[in-house]
Amino acid sequence: MAQSKTVIIGTGSCIPTRSVLNSEFLGHTFFEGYGSAYAQDETAKIVSKFQEITDIAERKYASDDQVCSDLALSAGRQAIAAAGIDPETLDYVIVAHNFGDVRAENRRSDFVPTLAARVKAKLGIASPACVAYDLPFGCPGWLQAVIQANYYLRSGDAKRALVIGAETLSRVSDPADRDSMIYADGAGAVVLEAQTHDGEAGILAHAVRSDTLEHARLLWMGPAFTKTPNDDSQLFLKMHGRKLYEYALTTVPGVVRQALEKAGLTLKDVDKVLIHQANGKMDEAILKRLFKLYGMKEIPADIMPMTVSWLGNSSVATVPTLLDLIVRGRMDGQALKSGDCVVFASVGAGMNINAMVYRWI
Ligand SMILES: CC(C)(COP(=O)(O)OP(=O)(O)OC[C@H]1O[C@@H](n2cnc3c(N)ncnc32)[C@H](O)[C@@H]1OP(=O)(O)O)[C@@H](O)C(=O)NCCC(=O)NCCS
Repeated sequence: MAQSKTVIIGTGSCIPTRSVLNSEFLGHTFFEGYGSAYAQDETAKIVSKFQEITDIAERKYASDDQVCSDLALSAGRQAIAAAGIDPETLDYVIVAHNFGDVRAENRRSDFVPTLAARVKAKLGIASPACVAYDLPFGCPGWLQAVIQANYYLRSGDAKRALVIGAETLSRVSDPADRDSMIYADGAGAVVLEAQTHDGEAGILAHAVRSDTLEHARLLWMGPAFTKTPNDDSQLFLKMHGRKLYEYALTTVPGVVRQALEKAGLTLKDVDKVLIHQANGKMDEAILKRLFKLYGMKEIPADIMPMTVSWLGNSSVATVPTLLDLIVRGRMDGQALKSGDCVVFASVGAGMNINAMVYRWI
């Protein structure tokens, strides 16, 4: 019997034009922690070590006149154009982000009204029935917004949703912190539609977990390393990198398996893994752990397309941007064909992890 399925009918992304190579950090003085600077002549070694342990050589930053909602709007417009729909037919506009609009000249977070309301207004959507709201959920925010929209569409209460992930991490990065070289800006979007299909199509299943008791403090906002630990005049993104790495390594594979089991599938059925682009080495290690979990030795070379080396970690935007680049044929040797089984997965502040299984049509 034909059932309502949630299907991606359009994708879009906004990759800022300003490219920031690792060499641009050679003028930085990095700190090991509060009050303990590395010697200036160690910076070059730190920057090359950084590339060695993350695979990141370049990242994209928004220009000074852009804010997060501008990037979101651009990606959203592209997804609507690709879907070929009238924006007035959208029932939801959901924007996942974690810091709101942070202007270059004033680093306060601004999300009143919500970024989704700003995007809806600039799309010129008049319909009051199109509900616009934001979702802060760490880096897994975009995927969580897709999961939420799926509930609305599967319930029959809604037919179409625009789901955007947008961030400007460059505006909350501490220049004295080595980890700031990970962070980037960007936006990605999809238009989802409820369609009836006999066979498997669209979103098949998802799984989510939230670890807070011991893990909430792995990613937080804190003062710059050039300040004292309790000088919170300005806050920056801070993390316990290695602990986060270990948490992601040991926990993400299990969540992916949970989602596959709910879809009645195994890793053998998976054609593509689109994973949050946090660190190239970490993502590779997560994939190895996932295959080990299934006792599978051979990892297909093209199963996990990566962008982190040239786009850096733009948080909620990494996965939808990756999807859009593949759909638009802008990733060599990567394509999605009808019938492909795609796993989406993300990890981030919370700590939150989510995974979704999708049948490409
Ligand atoms: C931060 C991170 C890049 C550090 O890499 P790591 O492999 O864990 O590094 P370690 O802490 O084990 O340190 C290994 C070496 O790298 C150095 N190092 C650590 N962080 C570094 C950085 N940001 N830049 C340069 N060198 C760094 C250490 O000093 C150490 O050097 P040594 O071998 O000379 O002693 C990595 O832990 C990471 O990406 N963590 C997860 C990020 C993430 O998932 N974010 C959340 C989702 S947004």
